[in-house]
Amino acid sequence: MRKFTFLLFAGIVMCLTGAGQQQQALRIVPEPVSVSVQNGHFLLRPDTRIMVSGAEASGVASLLAGMLNAPTGYRIAVQTGKGTQEGNVIVLRINAGRDASLGNEGYTLRVSEGQVVIAANGPQGLFYGMQTLLQLLPPAIGSPAVVENTRWELPCVSITDYPRFGWRGLMLDVSRHFFPKEVVKQYINELARYKFNVFHWHLTDDQGWRIEIKGMPELTGTGAWRVPRTGQWGTFAPPQPGEKATDGGYYTQEDIREVVAYAKERFVTVLPEIDVPAHCLALIATYPHLSCSGLQYDVNPGSRFLKKDINNVLCVANDSVWQVLDKVFTQVAALFPGEYIHVGGDEAHKSFWEACPKDLALAKKLGITVKEGLQPYFEKKMRQLIVAKGKKMIGWDEILNDELPVDIAVMSWRGMNPGTAAAKRKHPVVMSPWGQAYLDLYQGDPLVEPNTYGMLRLKTCYEFDPLPEGVDPQYILGGQGNLWTEAVPTQRQAEYMTWPRSFALSEAFWSPAGKRNWPDFIRRVEQQFHYLDAARVKYARSMYDAIIDVAKGSDDSLKVTLATEVPGLDVYYTFDGTNPDNFCARYAGVPLDVPKGATQVRVITYRGRQPIGQQINCPLSVLQTKLEKRIKREMQQRQRQQEQQQQAK
Ligand code: ACM
Repeated sequence: MRKFTFLLFAGIVMCLTGAGQQQQALRIVPEPVSVSVQNGHFLLRPDTRIMVSGAEASGVASLLAGMLNAPTGYRIAVQTGKGTQEGNVIVLRINAGRDASLGNEGYTLRVSEGQVVIAANGPQGLFYGMQTLLQLLPPAIGSPAVVENTRWELPCVSITDYPRFGWRGLMLDVSRHFFPKEVVKQYINELARYKFNVFHWHLTDDQGWRIEIKGMPELTGTGAWRVPRTGQWGTFAPPQPGEKATDGGYYTQEDIREVVAYAKERFVTVLPEIDVPAHCLALIATYPHLSCSGLQYDVNPGSRFLKKDINNVLCVANDSVWQVLDKVFTQVAALFPGEYIHVGGDEAHKSFWEACPKDLALAKKLGITVKEGLQPYFEKKMRQLIVAKGKKMIGWDEILNDELPVDIAVMSWRGMNPGTAAAKRKHPVVMSPWGQAYLDLYQGDPLVEPNTYGMLRLKTCYEFDPLPEGVDPQYILGGQGNLWTEAVPTQRQAEYMTWPRSFALSEAFWSPAGKRNWPDFIRRVEQQFHYLDAARVKYARSMYDAIIDVAKGSDDSLKVTLATEVPGLDVYYTFDGTNPDNFCARYAGVPLDVPKGATQVRVITYRGRQPIGQQINCPLSVLQTKLEKRIKREMQQRQRQQEQQQQAK
């Protein structure tokens, strides 16, 4: 009887929620604007054909054929022209009349039993429709090699989709660690699958100059190489006398053209960054006369360096600087077809200008103090240089000043406020705040993560909204995630830091703001993990780990709190130094008192009976320090408030 009641209940629930459950079975990232799932399936077969009506769609069709044929082993062919649409076909169609609601990047995707139709206003929309189509197939579709015994079937659906923002970027720093062009191409391929459309290539910094400039062979002869070091970035010994600089590399102009063309096929614009006037040590190590000090420095191998000792800033008043910049940006502008060039502009410490007779004289001539004056002057001159090459300028938010011409775009990294201020002054803005979009930060407990700094958990990424309240949306171009690579020495680690947080960013940049749903996002992320497994792309499973934190008891005593990002996990713990499992104490949401004599808490997460997160062994001293810092912060805050209240009286 109980069994019968259960079946009846289950049946009613299934009838009531059937449609919802069908939708739930999809794993599309980023979440589309609208999806409706129908009954039935389309089965991909060896005789399936891809049909395109004209040449405009044929590039996307060839990519699709390649992506279907590699894992299926089929020889699905592309047929151009009117041809019969009988049989098992995938039709890629450019709309005869423009559908304004779809814009340049939107698409519709209709899957019925014998036919798939992707329609868009142009090839870019078809490309995104193709990415969605691939995500409807089993995750094994990501495999670069044939996967046997798979039913390549996708559900009948009707999808309408278009992006929230036009700028959906990811940045890769190839200066701190060099990544060969093949790695860069793979990275671009991966980001394009999730509908990112800007690849920001951070090509120069203190640790390496990565772009060939014709007529300046020393730049890549010297500036692209540093002495090899392994271990913890920031602690490395500087070059030793006679030591050879063998670590590094650079892209020839031919390499760059190849990467740009590869990206273009995937509708990704490559945004080159030449970071000036600071972060220029590789350039200055090559041409010492470009800094105010004129001293010979080495390309930094990842040593801690004090800004007062080593000058990584260009001398603004030096004519040679402008000759070099003109030469560099002329070639950069010719190599990269995109609208913008990124000129850096971040973290320019002014102490060298303040001590430089040439810069002091220039400032005096301009009637400004060096301290406030020279960066705005520098950026204005940079703009002239960039505009003269037929490009628009974008830079990090330090470039913002009252006189900055409004055609210069600002990339906001020191939080959202600089971007908000820039948008209010009518600058185009890309939001890339470090606290929500810096992929080099920790994504889980530092006790079990590769060494880095800060913290950016998946959920924080997911909550990122590039459009601040009260800002006119027309000035927010979109958003971007940035992967600085001080602590990223390999391709696998770059992937680990990028995924799944960039799934969250892709939703922040593409999906409607009102469609955020954390549990459903996690469900889709887990589906995407299967796809990344098949595609042999590394990702982080940090979202499964427990979040260990401290609470303060009434007597300022230490209490331990445990939580998870992924809903529905159980956390088990011990204080006695043994390894916890699901037969140990389960955290029930009440902060834990620390038993006398305990020196650590050991924690692990389970889903049902299966361990799912990493075990974290957390010394209580770590938590005690955290608690003391918190108490100190609170005290300082209280003091500040009291002072403010007294001043107000
Ligand atoms: C930056 O993170 N310095 C742009």
